[in-house]
This record gives sequence, structure tokens and C-alpha cells, in this order.
Amino acid sequence: MDQLDQLVAQAETDFAAAVDGAALETAKARYLGKAGSLTELLKGLGKLDPEARKSAGAEINKAKAAIEALLNARRDALQQAALEAQLAAEALDVTLPGRGAGVGGLHPVVRTLERVEQLFRSIGFDVAEGPEIETDFYNFTALNTPANHPARSMHDTFYLENGEGVMLRTHTSPVQIRAMQAHVEAYKDCDTMPELRVIAPGRVYRVDSDATHSPMFHQVEGLWVGESVSFADLKGVVADFLRSFFESNDLQVRFRPSFFPFTEPSAEIDVAFMSGALKGRWLEIAGCGMVHPNVLRFGGIDPERYTGFAFGMGPDRLTMLRYGVNDLRLFFEGDLRFLGQFR
Ligand code: PHE
Repeated sequence: MDQLDQLVAQAETDFAAAVDGAALETAKARYLGKAGSLTELLKGLGKLDPEARKSAGAEINKAKAAIEALLNARRDALQQAALEAQLAAEALDVTLPGRGAGVGGLHPVVRTLERVEQLFRSIGFDVAEGPEIETDFYNFTALNTPANHPARSMHDTFYLENGEGVMLRTHTSPVQIRAMQAHVEAYKDCDTMPELRVIAPGRVYRVDSDATHSPMFHQVEGLWVGESVSFADLKGVVADFLRSFFESNDLQVRFRPSFFPFTEPSAEIDVAFMSGALKGRWLEIAGCGMVHPNVLRFGGIDPERYTGFAFGMGPDRLTMLRYGVNDLRLFFEGDLRFLGQFR
């Protein structure tokens, strides 16, 4: 039966032309569907006499089986091709290097703080902390800074809206009072109180913003209280610290008379490098002085028996000098191109 052979050949070409499963199902319907060519032929069998019907039926069924076989073969081929395409698209090159996790690093100011802590611990200082949200008693009153003092001005200080007398601390000096009170409490049952040597690093806040001032910045407070602590001790400790910190012996340190309500006498500490880009320029890095008797009293310590010195340093400034950074704001902008240089 020529017509059947043609039909099978035609189906083979049609199936081969189907590029995906949906196209193949459409092609299948043309032959095996309800109105498909083979189905029509089968329906036509009824008009033949029994003998012819038998042999024609067998022929048609043979063709049908052939077309079904072609269909299944094409279906398998399409599935195989789809699988191969998917595998190719999702291929992994296992020989590529991994992405790895980025290496983090300490913030340059944190590096400075760790270095400051390490150096002061080596001469017997403890490290203390105090709250950043402070009461005006600790931030001002106990530091001999009475209620009408200009340092309390709204222009200098961030007050909390609903907190009665509560503010962001403007310096780390309140930790002096907290450290003295804790020390006195710890030794209240002893005849003699050991020396108190403590530094207090941390964040402080002022309404101030330009290339060398940021509304949030860092300080390191230092306090040494004992029975015979003098201004000479203050000078020795600070000068030694600065030479160790900058790893330089040709560093000049100057104590310039100044005023702070909580120290008497008071001084600003300036440094000058003898070489390098900043050679010969005096740079202010700390305030200091002998702890005012009123401040010792607020700390619970008898000023007739004990004396002490205190200083408040700017570690941000120390970091700028150590690494040659000229804009303080770079430290707090979080730009990884800047921060990544300190790993
Ligand atoms: N608290 C002072 C300031 O912030 C610095 C200072 C601390 C001065 C300790 C003397 C003694 O400017």
C-alpha cells in the first residue's frame, strides 16, 4: 500500500521537524489524533468487504505501529537533547578558584585603642568603661563643673529629649568619678587603699563637625591616684607613652598651661616630630592636670591624703598622626577603599 508507506515517510519528516515536545505532540495529532490521517483510514475500513477489510486493517495497523515507533524515538531524542542542553548550561568549571571570604580588618582607631591599652597595661593600668549616656552629675557636677558653667551649653552637648539631666557624655572624664567610687567601695574595709591606675577608652559626643572634629569621636581617659602622685609622674608617664606609641625617641612633648575645671594645675599636651612631613609642628593631643580636690571628694577620696593626675587623650588624632591621615571624617564614613588600607 503505497499510500501508507507515504504516510509513514511523511510522519517521519514531520516528527524530525518538530523541535520540541509541544511541536511533536501537534505533529502526532495529524496522524494519530481523532481526526488524524490514520484514524480516518481506520474509520474507512467499515466500507470494505470483510476480506479486504482484514488485510487493509492489518496494513493500517502496521503503519500505525511504525508511526508510533517513530514518534517514541523522536520523543526520546528530544528529551535527550533537552537534558544535554541543560547540563551544558549548568556546567560547573570545578577547576576555577573559589570566591573565598573577604578578609576583614580592625578599624584604624580600634588599632590605636588596642595599642594604647597594651602600653598602659604594661605599666600597671586597668582598663575601665563607663556609659555613653551619662547623667549631668557624672559628666559635669562631679567634675567640678557647676550648673551655670558654659561647658554645659546646649551648643556643645547632646541632651536627651525626655531624660531629665541625661546626655551623651562629652568626654570620658565621668569615668574618673565612677572608677574612684568603685575603687573606694572595693577597699572600704582596708586600712590603706592601693593606688588607682586606670585608663578609660570610649566614644564621646559634641555638637561639632569639620575636617578635624566629628560629632562622635574617641577619647582615652587616664587616672592615677595615690599617696604621692605628682605632676612629674604625669609628665614621665605621658612622655614615655607617646614615645612608645609613635616608636620614636626624637619626639618632643610639651606641657602648655591651660584650664580645666576638674584639674589644677592643668595643661595641654602637644607633640612635635623631629622628622617627616609634620616636622617641627606642635600638635595638641591631650588635656591633663592634677585632679582637683573637689573631684577627689566626689569620687569619695580624701584630698588631704591622696593626690592624682588625669589626662584625656584624642586617639583619633593619634591615629591621624601615626598613619598620616588628614581628614578625621574618613574614619567614620565606612569607605572600604580607605579602611582596607589598614589591614
Ligand atoms: N576631659 C577633657 C576634655 O575633654 C580632657 C581632660 C581630661 C583634661 C582629664 C584634663 C584631665 O577636653
